[in-house]
Amino acid sequence: MTFSMLKLFSLSITIFISIFPAYSSSVGLEKGFLQCFQKNLGHNTTSGVIFTKSNSFYEPLLESSIRNARFLNSSVPKPNLIVTPHNLFHIQLALLCSRKNSLQIRVRSGGHDYEGLSYVSYVPFLIIDLFNLRSISINMKEETAWVQSGATIGELYYSIANRSKVHGFPAGSCSTMGVGGHFSGGGFGTIFRKYGLASDNVIDAQIIDVNGNILNRTLMGEDLFWAIRGGGGSSFGVITAWKIKLVHVPPIVTIFDVSRTLDQGASNLFDKWQTITPMLPPELFLHTVVGATNSPSHGGKTVVISFTGLYLGTPQKLLPLMQNRFPELGLQQNNLTSMTWIQSVLHFAGYSINQSLEILLKRNQTSTSSKAKSDFVKEPIPLSGLEGLWNMLLSGNSSFFIIMTPYGGKMSEISESETPFPHRKGNLYGIQYSVNLVSNEEAPKHLDWIRRLYAYMAPYVSKGPRKAYLNYRDLDLGVNRGNSSYVEAKSFGLKYFNNNFERLAKVKARVDPGNFFRDEQSIPPF
Ligand SMILES: Cc1cc2nc3c(=O)[nH]c(=O)nc-3n(C[C@H](O)[C@H](O)[C@H](O)COP(=O)(O)OP(=O)(O)OC[C@H]3O[C@@H](n4cnc5c(N)ncnc54)[C@H](O)[C@@H]3O)c2cc1C
Ligand SMILES: *[C@@H]1O[C@H](CO)[C@@H](O)[C@H](O)[C@H]1NC(C)=O
Ligand SMILES: *[C@@H]1O[C@H](CO)[C@@H](O)[C@H](O)[C@H]1NC(C)=O
Ligand SMILES: *[C@@H]1O[C@H](CO)[C@@H](O)[C@H](O)[C@H]1NC(C)=O
Ligand SMILES: *[C@@H]1O[C@H](CO)[C@@H](O)[C@H](O)[C@H]1NC(C)=O
Ligand SMILES: *[C@@H]1O[C@H](CO)[C@@H](O)[C@H](O)[C@H]1NC(C)=O
Ligand SMILES: *[C@@H]1O[C@H](CO)[C@@H](O)[C@H](O)[C@H]1NC(C)=O
Ligand SMILES: *[C@@H]1O[C@H](CO)[C@@H](O)[C@H](O)[C@H]1NC(C)=O
Ligand SMILES: *[C@@H]1O[C@H](CO)[C@@H](O)[C@H](O)[C@H]1NC(C)=O
Ligand SMILES: *[C@@H]1O[C@H](CO)[C@@H](O)[C@H](O)[C@H]1NC(C)=O
Repeated sequence: MTFSMLKLFSLSITIFISIFPAYSSSVGLEKGFLQCFQKNLGHNTTSGVIFTKSNSFYEPLLESSIRNARFLNSSVPKPNLIVTPHNLFHIQLALLCSRKNSLQIRVRSGGHDYEGLSYVSYVPFLIIDLFNLRSISINMKEETAWVQSGATIGELYYSIANRSKVHGFPAGSCSTMGVGGHFSGGGFGTIFRKYGLASDNVIDAQIIDVNGNILNRTLMGEDLFWAIRGGGGSSFGVITAWKIKLVHVPPIVTIFDVSRTLDQGASNLFDKWQTITPMLPPELFLHTVVGATNSPSHGGKTVVISFTGLYLGTPQKLLPLMQNRFPELGLQQNNLTSMTWIQSVLHFAGYSINQSLEILLKRNQTSTSSKAKSDFVKEPIPLSGLEGLWNMLLSGNSSFFIIMTPYGGKMSEISESETPFPHRKGNLYGIQYSVNLVSNEEAPKHLDWIRRLYAYMAPYVSKGPRKAYLNYRDLDLGVNRGNSSYVEAKSFGLKYFNNNFERLAKVKARVDPGNFFRDEQSIPPF
């Protein structure tokens, strides 16, 4: 499709919308959409591209990448249609025809959104699911790759490993995450202290805007290119592909995993951990995962903390470093396992390091019903605060995990305004709290518990406002109600983006002034 055709396209939308009022029923909208799509597609079939509720693939397709069982509940609203584009023209048509028929769209890449925003809406809507658009093309000479948004991060890691043992990419751990949501919201993982976020390593992108224009970095302009590297994709357009810079990893990396209960001194170890890890060399990532474990001697349960590390180097170099900086952990030679970088990817994705790499290509995964929240810590939490936290964790009867991710290194070298992701220098570590909601009947009890935990933590975490990570989406932070005003959206906007929020809203005003791309936490036009 040429640009002049696209100009006509947008012109005809404007005329169409102003002449014909929206259908009142969503069935009418759906019909209108199908007619519009078919008409523009010409002789080609929509079979395999559009799935209506009566299609037997509709339900398995919808559920295929729901990554939170909370949204499998039959009372959660379902899309009128699911569009699975095979090419960019299908996306252009989906945008054109949904605008004409006042259907909202939700774009889904990997479906990992914690609040299900990529596939749940309370107005008539359709999903554009990008799973067919997942090609990955690697240019070893340039040390770059173009990755389509529907690829999973596991597919990307696999493709890189298939070409090189000494290249990698700094993104998250869970291999089924979609590149589309992950990159547009930031994306951190086990080598981010060395190389920054996934979004920090994006050098070009392809986006389809509200008028159906296909834009690369030059054409979209630096302000939009800035916005989609951390500001979330869902406010600006359909991002179809990303050009990334690959990074260097050594042929041998080292991991370790040490768990301690409170009886074994976990509290003091954690106290030490929180003061030293942000200052460790960037080659060393050492995060903690806090959970509960059975303990007959403590009337049932105690807190257990695992200290899990990845070092970009050999055990011979790591051991003296740990013995010097964190002797209390008592690491010894045989606590360290050396492996290739891609094996460490398997490990952090929850697989055995000896498993075949093809496991990274698996896209489906069962999930529990969960609720997550996030925080950033700027001052070490005093021991008294930690004691209270452990008590809080053992109160109630919730199954939970808390991941504490050390910052520092490269993250402190990038300014707060370089990309919309503002959580840089001055952060010791980030926190993710997650609770298993178990069932719909039990959900209120566990939701209440995690909200009380979050309230307990307030004195110990970032303030003015309390910060949060967009990719750990949390609707408790605030939502757009009805008119999506800038003022209202500040509630969540300042927490996710801090001083970058206003600039995001200005970019939004330029590229989508009519607020077509919207959801509960999209950025409204300034
Ligand atoms: C099990 C699990 C593990 C996780 N681990 C990590 C981790 O290690 N590190 C980390 O940083 N994060 C992690 N996350 C969070 C993850 O980064 C976010 O959930 C991310 O948004 C997922 O992207 P997705 O494409 O799978 O999600 P989706 O649900 O498909 O999309 C998320 C949001 O982005 C929008 N979007 C998706 N694709 C596009 C597109 N192509 N164009 C425009 N907008 C788009 C959606 O509309 C939605 O608003 C994890 C999440 C889960 C569930
Ligand atoms: C129509 O179908 C043909 C044959 O399958 C394909 O080559 C072409 O790309 C399709 N066009 C569109 C717009 O989908
Ligand atoms: C869906 O969730 C609602 C609210 O949590 C609950 O009342 C209802 O029982 C659930 N329905 C099913 C089928 O699980
Ligand atoms: C791995 O790379 C080779 C070329 O280097 C290619 O032929 C092969 O298809 C790739 N495998 C996969 C599964 O991508
Ligand atoms: C972006 O697209 C334009 C128009 O197709 C093209 O001239 C330009 O070279 C592209 N820029 C890059 C960096 O690829
Ligand atoms: C670490 O090594 C020591 C010495 O062999 C051993 O006693 C201890 O159990 C190991 N710890 C872990 C967590 O593997
Ligand atoms: C992986 O394989 C190696 C070599 O066969 C073996 O020594 C090691 O114990 C295995 N590790 C795991 C976690 O299975
Ligand atoms: C994933 O898909 C495979 C192949 O279709 C299937 O065998 C497997 O049961 C699925 N797993 C889950 C968890 O849905
Ligand atoms: C704790 O939760 C489990 C599983 O959700 C439940 O079976 C058990 O009865 C609960 N115990 C108490 C004391 O609430
Ligand atoms: C839109 O939101 C603003 C800010 O919350 C509010 O003042 C205004 O009344 C709202 N307008 C409508 C029409 O809801």
